[in-house]
Amino acid sequence: MTPEINTAAILGAGAMGAGIAQVAAQAGIQTSLFDISEEFAMAGLAKITAMLDKGVARGKVSEEERANVLTKLTPSWDVEAATNGVDLVIEAVPERLDLKLEIFQKVSDLVRSDTLIATNTSSISITKLAKAVANPSRFLGLHFFNPPPLMPLLEVVHGEETSQHSLDAALSLSKRMGKEPIVVRDSPGFASSRLGVAIGLEAIRMLEEGVASAADIDKAMELGYRFPMGPLKLTDLIGIDVRLDIASYLDANLEGDRFKVPELMRAMVAEGKHGKKTGQGFYTWVDGQAIS
Ligand SMILES: NC(=O)c1ccc[n+]([C@@H]2O[C@H](COP(=O)([O-])OP(=O)(O)OC[C@H]3O[C@@H](n4cnc5c(N)ncnc54)[C@H](O)[C@@H]3O)[C@@H](O)[C@H]2O)c1
Repeated sequence: MTPEINTAAILGAGAMGAGIAQVAAQAGIQTSLFDISEEFAMAGLAKITAMLDKGVARGKVSEEERANVLTKLTPSWDVEAATNGVDLVIEAVPERLDLKLEIFQKVSDLVRSDTLIATNTSSISITKLAKAVANPSRFLGLHFFNPPPLMPLLEVVHGEETSQHSLDAALSLSKRMGKEPIVVRDSPGFASSRLGVAIGLEAIRMLEEGVASAADIDKAMELGYRFPMGPLKLTDLIGIDVRLDIASYLDANLEGDRFKVPELMRAMVAEGKHGKKTGQGFYTWVDGQAIS
C-alpha cells in the first residue's frame, strides 16, 4: 500500500528539481531538496525564493503563502537524511541513464519498501529505470514541465510493472498539486518530448541550412501555427544541453534518423551556449528576457 503523501525528497536541485520542490511544498508536503553539494542545494532554494518573490511582487502569491512554502522546504546535501522515512521521492538529475540508475539503486536501499518513487525523466524508459529499485510496482514517471510551478501539465508514465495503486496515488498527487495529468504508456520520449524534440531538432536543422533566422523560424510557428513560443526559444528555455541529452537517447532508442543530433546543437553545447540559463543560446538572454 502506498501511504498518504506527507513528506517528499526531490533529488537534484536544478531547474526542474527546485521547481518540483516548490510545487510539492505548495501542496503542503514537507520536502527535502537534495543535490550533491551545499552550493547546489542552496542555489536550488535561492531559485525557489526568487520565484516566490516574483509571485508576491505580481500579487499571485501572498506573503503568508511564501512563508508557509519556505517552512516546508529543507535543502540537503546528505542523501540519507533527505530520504529518511519519506513517502515520496522524485528524481530530477541530468538525463543520463547510468546516473539515474545509480541514484535509484542507492535510494532504494534507503527508503521504505512502500515509498512511491518517481522520475522526472523526459525520455528514458520507466521500465528500465524501475529495475534499479526493490518493488518496482511503486515506480513511475512524473514528468513536470518548465517552470514546474507555472506549467499545468503533468505526464504520468507507467512502466510495465507500475501498479494501478501507484498510478492512482500519482493521479491523486497531481490533483493535490493543481496539475492536469495525462497518462502515458512507457515509450521513448512519452507523449510530450517525442513530439516537442522532433520539432525543435528540425528547427535547428533549418537554422543550420540558412532557411531563415532563429527569430523568423520561431515567428512562423507562433503566428502561423499559434504556438505560444517558437521551437528555438523553447529549446533555449529548456536548455540546449538538456535537449541534446534527450535527443541522443531518442536517437538510440527509436527507429530512423529523426532524432539525429544536428552539428550546430553539438557545437553550441560544447561552447557553453546552453540557452537562457547561460545567457546565450539561439537568442541572447538578459534578466530572463531574450533580447536578440
Ligand atoms: N529543463 C527542462 O525543461 C526539463 C523539463 C522536463 C524534464 N526535464 C528533465 O529533468 C531532469 C533534470 O533536468 P534539469 O533541467 O533540472 O537539469 P539541471 O542541469 O538544471 O539540474 C540537474 C541537477 O542535478 C544535480 N545532480 C547531478 N548529479 C546528481 C546526483 N547524483 N544526485 C543529486 N543531484 C545531482 C546537478 O547538480 C543539478 O543541480 C532531466 O532528466 C531532464 O530531462 C527537464
